[in-house]
Amino acid sequence: MKNQLRENLAEVALPVVNVPAHPVRPELPVEEKAALKERIKAMLHEKNAVLVAHYYTDGDLQDLAEETGGCVADSLEMARFGTEHPARTLVVAGVRFMGETSKILNNEKRVLMPDLGATCSLDEGCPAALFSDFCDQHPEHTVVVYANTSAEVKARSHWVVTSGIALPIIKHLAGRGEKILWGPDQHLGRYVQGLTGVEMILWPGSCVVHEAFKAEALEQLRKQHPLAAVLVHPESPLDIVEQADVVGSTTALIEAVRTLPHPEFIVATDAGIFNKMRQLAPNKILLSAPTAGEGATCRSCARCPWMAMNTLEKLAVVLETGINEIEVAPELAARARIPIQRMLDFAKTLKK
Ligand code: 13P
Ligand code: SF4
Repeated sequence: MKNQLRENLAEVALPVVNVPAHPVRPELPVEEKAALKERIKAMLHEKNAVLVAHYYTDGDLQDLAEETGGCVADSLEMARFGTEHPARTLVVAGVRFMGETSKILNNEKRVLMPDLGATCSLDEGCPAALFSDFCDQHPEHTVVVYANTSAEVKARSHWVVTSGIALPIIKHLAGRGEKILWGPDQHLGRYVQGLTGVEMILWPGSCVVHEAFKAEALEQLRKQHPLAAVLVHPESPLDIVEQADVVGSTTALIEAVRTLPHPEFIVATDAGIFNKMRQLAPNKILLSAPTAGEGATCRSCARCPWMAMNTLEKLAVVLETGINEIEVAPELAARARIPIQRMLDFAKTLKK
């Protein structure tokens, strides 16, 4: 079964992705943190700026985004929110592709990020030149790329998708009889391919966080917690997805905790998501799906090292100084906007 699924994996040599160590920093004293948050709130107001945060960032950043009229969301909603909010400056707490997507969709706005070094293993594992050559070799395929990619890779695609909308878009393309060249996340690609049966060639990229979940250890944990529902982000490998009660985007997993009757949940995604889950369902027990552990083989331990680069302190500096502005060349932005806009327009048809 696994070998069969590997047959449609593109044979390309990916660059080695340098995964930073997870930052360990002491908690700020309570009064200091409260004062810093107040200073950030004042600066957001003064500078006509709004904070857009992802569910994997530090809980303080997520809460601050909501307290100040910004949003905490999945990557699809982050993109949409920026286009609908009137602020002149968007401060994106997340990873670089999220800031770039905001800039591409809002060329007239200033987009700042707490740390421009916050990247993503999927983006790093899909260099634009290599990907473009690969697309050139398959001119009869529709190119669908995950949002976790550079502006250049998006500009080479026909469609951009996020985990929240990948399945309906691929179903739509399957209905039109299209063959798909999918990049860069092989696991998400394989998941949607399994559900749609569409012909797909998969770029062999992966997320270092989700790839660390361990199937056998998850089976053991499920036995110890028979009442728990298993929630899985589709960037996880197939042997994890196969054990899921719910597979979906970060928003879908949060919704599952809020609405399902289960008293316990085993969650296979970044542990930053627990912040929102705890707010919405304070009485539920939340357990992280097992990774390789804190030992040498675990590169992420269910915490994205790049998402963790976003801090309150860096956010304050960025607002104060205006550094870390995201730039996308207008000509490139214009090309990358087409497949992103196609996704947003498609999303509107689903909401009707
Ligand atoms: P979502 O779009 O589900 O929030 O996922 C983004 C991401 O990077 C997950 O690793
Ligand atoms: Fe990228 Fe994975 Fe981090 Fe999401 S969790 S930003 S896919 S490395």
